[in-house]
Amino acid sequence: YFIGIDIGTTSVKIIVIDENGKIIKSIGKEYPLSFPKPLWSEQNPEDWWKQSIDGLGELLDGLDKNEVKAISFSGQMHGLVTLDENDKVVRPAILWNDQRTDKECEYLNNEIGRSKISEWTGNLALAGFTAPKILWLKENEPENFATMKKIMLPKDYLAYKMSGVFATDMSDASGTLYLDVKNRKWSLEMLKLLDISEGQLPNLYESYEVIGDIKSELADELGLNKNVKIIIGGGDQAVAAVGGGVVGSGSCSLSLGTSGVVFTSNEQFFVDGNNSLHSFCHANGKYHLMGVTLAAAASLKWWVEKINKSDDFDGLLNEAKEVTIDDNLFYLPYLMGERTPHNDPNCRGTFIGLNITHERKHMTRAVLEGVAFSLRDTFEIMKEMGVEITSININGGGAKSKLWCEIIADVLNVKVNKLNTNEGPSYGAAILASVGFGLFDTVENACCKFIKITESINPNKENSQLYNKKYKKFRKIYPATKELFK
Ligand code: XUL
Repeated sequence: YFIGIDIGTTSVKIIVIDENGKIIKSIGKEYPLSFPKPLWSEQNPEDWWKQSIDGLGELLDGLDKNEVKAISFSGQMHGLVTLDENDKVVRPAILWNDQRTDKECEYLNNEIGRSKISEWTGNLALAGFTAPKILWLKENEPENFATMKKIMLPKDYLAYKMSGVFATDMSDASGTLYLDVKNRKWSLEMLKLLDISEGQLPNLYESYEVIGDIKSELADELGLNKNVKIIIGGGDQAVAAVGGGVVGSGSCSLSLGTSGVVFTSNEQFFVDGNNSLHSFCHANGKYHLMGVTLAAAASLKWWVEKINKSDDFDGLLNEAKEVTIDDNLFYLPYLMGERTPHNDPNCRGTFIGLNITHERKHMTRAVLEGVAFSLRDTFEIMKEMGVEITSININGGGAKSKLWCEIIADVLNVKVNKLNTNEGPSYGAAILASVGFGLFDTVENACCKFIKITESINPNKENSQLYNKKYKKFRKIYPATKELFK
């Protein structure tokens, strides 16, 4: 058996698979998320640990524990976890969705300068990334800054507690903004700028590498063998891509969850001219690009639940099916600002082009299309960079809607594949555990064996042409309206 543990933002998900990739059992355990001040978002690393260990106990109950060979991880990215000289947590972890570091990002991107930051790391500073959080800590909590002896990411804390080895991996480290992503090593320039040393940082591994064996006392507590291997795993987006079979050159996934993520796997390191995409290391030892639409399924949820006061998603989606494409009704999905391509926290959601004949069904369809157009923005940047994409593997809650999958296939003009698994990060972590243990030579081979396409949706030529024209108009709306929301 191989176990994958995904430290999410609201809960830990743990899954166990056999050597054929079949899911034997999975469980989830929630923990609190706190917002102590406006813009802040924090969690207690000890809660991750407690819930993971309780969860593991429940997962293993009734299973043949001798069969467990390896454990690996996926984790929410970018979170700042700090330990003191006695390995005690210094302060609650500052999470990926914490927005307190506006000033620090401004300093990094504008005073130090975009070109230097991009040259050293491959990326620009975003409020969620780890480096600006370290600058914030230094300025606002100097006593905590002075006592932190170890700096790590959320899943690394779990790996450390389980193995005693202070380690991280390339994919997760990419989201710190102090990794030189291209050369897969810490950026000494950034460490100097942040006033931290390499000694405070974990050793870097590839996501599928073994960092050690499970600690002997933990093996006893859980009833596991002492030679269970601990494999470091990776950041949740890269590991979800592994869990969705997106590991070959140019393969692409679209995760249609609360946010929408377009992700491509690449052999080489690429950066787009404007640094609009995240250029990160992938969990298969190579690289990936990704762009994020912040309110994807969140747009549909808002429209159905908040505006229409309904929980009948299917009903509203069925209505929208009857509507033909209206080239003048648009929805912009910027309900929470936007990451890609605008990197603009102030932009707003918009319906534009309404007339007296429009009904709810037209607006529902506009919401689905608007999210698809926003995902196409990321897709276009990837294509401009020469990344060739012929099909995408879709996952996430929004992918349950056939209509939405069809609209996406038409708007992007690519084949959309559905898979035999929709578990994402926890499944990807279990795959990394199987590779680390030695069941496969490469992550690619494991994915090839475990992950199958169950359905493909081809674009409809006529609709694609209509959407192509409509997308050109969509592109004009943000520049024309952004000044209204400054
Ligand atoms: C990735 C990102 C999120 C977090 C939380 O850049 O911010 O995916 O990892 O899931």
